[in-house]
Amino acid sequence: VSPITLSKLQRMKQAGEKFTCLTCYDATFTHAMNKAGVETILVGDSLGMVVQGQDSTLPVSIDDMCYHTAAVKRGNSHAFILADMPFMSYSSPNQALDNAAKLMQAGANMVKLEGGSWLADTVRLLSERGIPVCAHLGLTPQAVHKLGGYKVQGKDKAAADLILQESLELVAAGADILLYECIPSELGKSLTQAVSVPVIGIGAGADTDGQVLVMHDMLGINIGRPARFVKNFLTNGRTITDAFAAYVDEVKNGTFPAPEHTFDA
Ligand code: KIV
Ligand code: NA
Repeated sequence: VSPITLSKLQRMKQAGEKFTCLTCYDATFTHAMNKAGVETILVGDSLGMVVQGQDSTLPVSIDDMCYHTAAVKRGNSHAFILADMPFMSYSSPNQALDNAAKLMQAGANMVKLEGGSWLADTVRLLSERGIPVCAHLGLTPQAVHKLGGYKVQGKDKAAADLILQESLELVAAGADILLYECIPSELGKSLTQAVSVPVIGIGAGADTDGQVLVMHDMLGINIGRPARFVKNFLTNGRTITDAFAAYVDEVKNGTFPAPEHTFDA
């Protein structure tokens, strides 16, 4: 299989072909995701919760992210690897450049940062230095204490318009992928149509170009009650690799996410 690249994802968007992403934190699961046809892998700072047992993503360090990115990279044959920049590792453009360089040297193909307009200068700097950037908008878990909990974002017109405006600014600054978490389906659809770059969604409806889930959630081994957008694919006597492949099938044929996994305005 030839390596998945940004231009391949761009072509899939143009062709209306859905692509998949799952979070992953180690080599063995990466190998299984490669076999199942998962195009992109996110080394998410959700590892703070699902691997480290923290109660938010805030305690995760850049060294933690590099350790897991390197493990995923060693297990990977052809998927496109995104790595999260953790809390306060990109509070200024120069700090972001130093830390993004560490993740790229650990094996990432792209870095992901949470934020809106204030990130534009950082995105521009990274982009000019040849580092692809994914901007994460909507529910941004590193801001959970400011947001007052894990809540759906962009519900009223003013909030939705702001997300659109910030998205366009970040794409103009050089963002190559946008990721939206927990926004109404209709907004997910209009944003996906409004921007030229591939859009990944989680709890953002069925019309984004790609979908992502946390691996542990989609294997049904989450601790505590799963979020509305989660579906357990480790059912029907499937192996783990079969569960990943079932997720790929359901995203590509439009079965997942179903209305029960999505939010209204
Ligand atoms: O860290 C993570 O798992 C994420 C996804 C939920 C998008 O950022
Ligand atoms: Na994350």
